[in-house]
Amino acid sequence: MSKTSITLNVNGKSVETQAEPRELLIHVLREQLQITGPHIGCETSHCGACTVEIDGRSVKSCTMFAIQAQGTEITTIEGLGNPDKLHVLQEKFKEHHGLQCGYCTPGMITRAHRLLEENPNPTEEDVRFGIAGNLCRCTGYQNIVKAVLAAADELNQPEAVA
Ligand code: FES
Ligand code: FES
Repeated sequence: MSKTSITLNVNGKSVETQAEPRELLIHVLREQLQITGPHIGCETSHCGACTVEIDGRSVKSCTMFAIQAQGTEITTIEGLGNPDKLHVLQEKFKEHHGLQCGYCTPGMITRAHRLLEENPNPTEEDVRFGIAGNLCRCTGYQNIVKAVLAAADELNQPEAVA
């Protein structure tokens, strides 16, 4: 099948690639651009492992074709922090044991990032509702919720830098 050229801005960098009309964004991110933070869990829009931010919205990247992302700004977990400088959410997930196997974690943190951008002072209920589209089969969610609330607290300190 013929491929179409697409330009994406991924984690602050403009990238050009090619995709067939049938190719899902998650596959193009992982296989062509080697951005492997977003995971593939179900490919049926249930698990949230593939969550990224697109133009300021949380999107399960298995639910859209790559060509639909033409011209968008995409942020993945790689764009939030790195091993030398973790994002506050990454620090708090680590501190509060918000992960076990880690498979859901990139999508969970990317989703939590958007949640805190939209609601910097969430209640526990807000957090639970906000991450309801991201499934974790390990943690029971308790520590994930604690980590997100702790990150919100820290980001609300006067000197905090997201
Ligand atoms: S892999 Fe996209 S929602 Fe599960
Ligand atoms: S930490 Fe294993 S699926 Fe969430």
